[in-house]
Amino acid sequence: MRIRVPATSANLGPGFDSCGVALNCYLFVEVIKKTTAWQVDHSYGELIPNDENNLIVQTALKIAPNLLPHQIKVVSDIPLTRGLGSSSSAIVAGIELANRLAQLNLSENDKVKLASQLEGHPDNVAPAICGDLVIASGNGDQVNYVKHYFPDCQLIAFIPNVELKTSESRDVLPADFTYSDAVAASSIANVMVASLIKGDIVQAGKMMEQDKFHEIYRSSLLAHFADVRQISHEHEGYGCYLSGAGPTVMILAPAKATAIITQKLQALDQTAKIEVFQVDREGV
Ligand code: HSE
Repeated sequence: MRIRVPATSANLGPGFDSCGVALNCYLFVEVIKKTTAWQVDHSYGELIPNDENNLIVQTALKIAPNLLPHQIKVVSDIPLTRGLGSSSSAIVAGIELANRLAQLNLSENDKVKLASQLEGHPDNVAPAICGDLVIASGNGDQVNYVKHYFPDCQLIAFIPNVELKTSESRDVLPADFTYSDAVAASSIANVMVASLIKGDIVQAGKMMEQDKFHEIYRSSLLAHFADVRQISHEHEGYGCYLSGAGPTVMILAPAKATAIITQKLQALDQTAKIEVFQVDREGV
């Protein structure tokens, strides 16, 4: 049995903790055999547990506590702690592992509820489960979501060679927001989402760059953000936003601009990884 979970890029600028898109970059879990204790074969090194403490197994056991131990093999192209949904992919993989091994018959809706409750917000886990663009609110039993076609474009990721923990990136956010700031920030998010639904990637991209919820506070942690956005502006990018909690910065661009943007981004930082993604339309 083989499970495939896509990477995700959350927030899309002003869609903080609510919007996300699935990418054609994957975590794979293969079930090898039943064993006497959980064994997770992976190539991440010692920092990632290879027993029942692994996040995939822990998640599976939360969903199906009586699951018998198995040997599983995990292979992933999703970089860790870079803002591309690696931990969400592990949570979704764990839910799907439990679903299949224990034959739970979970619906998509069940999976989104469980995963968003475990993750705390739905913007990575929902597109990892559903594929494509997902707009979601709340978590757990209160979660509501809409899946929709994300307009065709290239998603060019500038992935710096530094880690940024989500907790660190959330610590710089303000505890409170004034009423007028909330109105301004949500109106920008509303137009961004409406533009995506309409298929207007040009307007959506413009709105992505007007976020007021988080990027302004996080930019102090991201020396490269302004330079990447400048490259996007100079070379026909539709929009440029901080992917999830960062440090990856995403540029949405037409295919004809991909080569020059990729080249400029690599010249900006030789140590960064530049990846060109397309939208995954399927999910787990
Ligand atoms: N919406 C989340 C954030 C995504 O920006 O903190 C990362 O988990």
